[in-house]
Amino acid sequence: MAETTNVDYSTKIPNNVGLMDDQRVLKALEQWHPGYIDWWMTMGPEGFQTSDVYLRTAISIDPKGWAKFDYVKMPEYRWGILLAPRQDDRRVNFGIHKGEPAWQEVPGEYRAMLRRLIVVQGDTEPASVEQQRHLGKTAPSLYDMRNLFQVNVEEGRHLWAMVYLLQKYFGKDGREEAEGLLQRRSGDQDRPRMLGAFNEQTPDWLSFFMFTFFTDRDGKMQLESLAQSGFDPLSRTCRFMLTEEAHHMFVGETGVGRAIERTCQAMKEAGIEDANDVAAVRKLGVIDLPTMQKKANLHFSLSLDLFGSEVSTNAANYYTSGVKGRLQETRIEDDHQLTKATYPVSKLIDGNIKMVDEPALTAINMRLRDDYVNDCAKGVQRWNKVIEKAGVNFRLKLPNVAFHRGIGEFATIQASPAGELLREGDWAKQKDQWLPSKEDGDFIAGLMAPCWERGKFASWIAPPRVGIDNKPGDFEYVKVDRA
Ligand SMILES: [Fe+2]
Ligand SMILES: [Fe+2]
Repeated sequence: MAETTNVDYSTKIPNNVGLMDDQRVLKALEQWHPGYIDWWMTMGPEGFQTSDVYLRTAISIDPKGWAKFDYVKMPEYRWGILLAPRQDDRRVNFGIHKGEPAWQEVPGEYRAMLRRLIVVQGDTEPASVEQQRHLGKTAPSLYDMRNLFQVNVEEGRHLWAMVYLLQKYFGKDGREEAEGLLQRRSGDQDRPRMLGAFNEQTPDWLSFFMFTFFTDRDGKMQLESLAQSGFDPLSRTCRFMLTEEAHHMFVGETGVGRAIERTCQAMKEAGIEDANDVAAVRKLGVIDLPTMQKKANLHFSLSLDLFGSEVSTNAANYYTSGVKGRLQETRIEDDHQLTKATYPVSKLIDGNIKMVDEPALTAINMRLRDDYVNDCAKGVQRWNKVIEKAGVNFRLKLPNVAFHRGIGEFATIQASPAGELLREGDWAKQKDQWLPSKEDGDFIAGLMAPCWERGKFASWIAPPRVGIDNKPGDFEYVKVDRA
């Protein structure tokens, strides 16, 4: 069977890439499958593997009507290989190969580079499932629980997507990398996941929502720039993943938004005017806005680190080679080679944060990070609308990019969220005002009582405006085993 819009479910691995006619890759994937299921059973959502969950499954790559909803037990989810359709006459759109036909096979000289990019992207997918595996137990509603599991199964599918590329195009070392993706574990001392933010804990639901807002959005940016790749199968894989990724960010943005809404509502009902009166707000069983700001500070700064160094020769090489582009590369009006262009980069110069023009090629990471920050800022504005509408005097803000950084220009210094450089002692004294403290964590943990009755929501979060798949408010999104 050739490549199609609809997905072939006749093979064990649903796909639209003609696996029936590609026995070598089909066999490799079938051999990888038991290890994956083993990983899912040990590292996937804890306690819900036998529950029926109302999930969407991709059945087509047609943007209209690509998914169907039904009850599924998660280990039986049909994780498939789905690539966006091939575009006739697609070209390499940037770098030194600009204008050449897009590559349908891996060019020998870029093999190591492409493998590395695919493995790093692939590694984040199972990592987030591991980070989130305990959350089902404290879900604030069946609606939220279902959204968590939807994100989880789709991250699992994204792992499949990357493993397909490794097994189809990278031979023996691709198969070894595919195994490695099942071996590493988020937060593990000896075999951690590859990137920092994916080894952090996701201890509570506010963290989960912040993670899907900030860290999945980094994922979106990475996928967008890989979707520009001259290596066509990678481009097509990422384009389809982006369809699913949109829902992950929806879960994050509306999750935080609903927590904010509930907090503001409770404050108004109780006649509390001062949003900074943390003790008074917490007595209402909702999360105070200053703590939400701290959580945002944490997740934003961890996610910025995922973009790598502001100035990077690796990033320049990826670009020049045509393997990883910029956000919406083809819509940018320039020469797409950047040999003479510059780009402003925020740097630490003589103890001050300054903007400096750097060659645009080495500033590729910085540019993508700027696009990311702008995208985040729009979401924060929408959160602020919720606060404003409730008549509460408080606004959330993104911290300065120099705040709490582990990678790049600002890794060696400490700065306040406003971007003032701090002395060592001053940071230690004030950091609990800016990042979630142990006490904040304990308070949030105390609120995380499960709320699994149909149509009910935990004290700290408002219901959504509309249900998933237009289901009514009391829909049973997860049939929880109460044995
Ligand atoms: Fe993903
Ligand atoms: Fe995601």
